[in-house]
Amino acid sequence: MSEIIIRGENITKIYDELIILKDVNIEIERGEIVVILGPSGSGKTTLLNILGLIDRPTEGKVYIDEKFTGNFSEKQLSEIRNKKFGFIFQFFYLIPELTVVENVFLPLWVKEKRYDKNLIASGEKYLSKFDILNKKNSYPSQLSGGEAQRVAICRSLICNPEVIFADEPTGSIDKLSALTFFEFMEKLNKENETTFIIATHNEIFLQFASKIVYLKEGKIERIEKRR
Ligand SMILES: Nc1ncnc2c1ncn2[C@@H]1O[C@H](COP(=O)(O)OP(=O)(O)OP(=O)(O)O)[C@@H](O)[C@H]1O
Ligand SMILES: [Mg+2]
Repeated sequence: MSEIIIRGENITKIYDELIILKDVNIEIERGEIVVILGPSGSGKTTLLNILGLIDRPTEGKVYIDEKFTGNFSEKQLSEIRNKKFGFIFQFFYLIPELTVVENVFLPLWVKEKRYDKNLIASGEKYLSKFDILNKKNSYPSQLSGGEAQRVAICRSLICNPEVIFADEPTGSIDKLSALTFFEFMEKLNKENETTFIIATHNEIFLQFASKIVYLKEGKIERIEKRR
């Protein structure tokens, strides 16, 4: 039986009296690869942030594992994020004061509250998969856009999260790194039932999608189910 892990009900988001999202209804089942498509400014990032408990809707409800999150404290929300979610942000948001490898293992450090050799080794393992281990001691400001995106991808994977929110995750990387990302996505999805929610313009993602959500001017135009 399918298990709904995230549900958004009548999500509306208003910024400065502008309606950014309007009555969005979406259900995400465990193991899905959901691709959100829509023109620039249609609300993709805003929707990811709300479903990922980074931002709250102005109106409407978000349920995680069928639990209503609207009355959760910031601490409870961050606990869910740290425990269950991984994020690849559109603008990476690496921490400038930390080195590359420290950025990558940071979520694991926060989660397990211990600092040891294994922590560093896990960080290095992912950096090596994405062919960027040679930059492990660099700082984010010393990286190219594509390198920063690969570091952000490594960071999202390190805790083996249940859900990965990926906002244009291949926007800055070359074909080979994108391929590595697709391989990881397929592997984690098959082996661990990892759920992916991806906002993208990259049509290659469509072939992996279980559900395609077409967003236009803050509204869902249609949802296409693939499998
Ligand atoms: N914090 C904010 N304050 C005011 N307006 C905002 C804020 N965040 C987003 N918006 C507006 O909401 C709209 C949707 O933004 P969003 O970033 O969700 O779009 P998007 O679909 O991700 O676009 P892109 O493809 O360019 O990344 C935009 O018009 C944007 O200007
Ligand atoms: Mg965006």
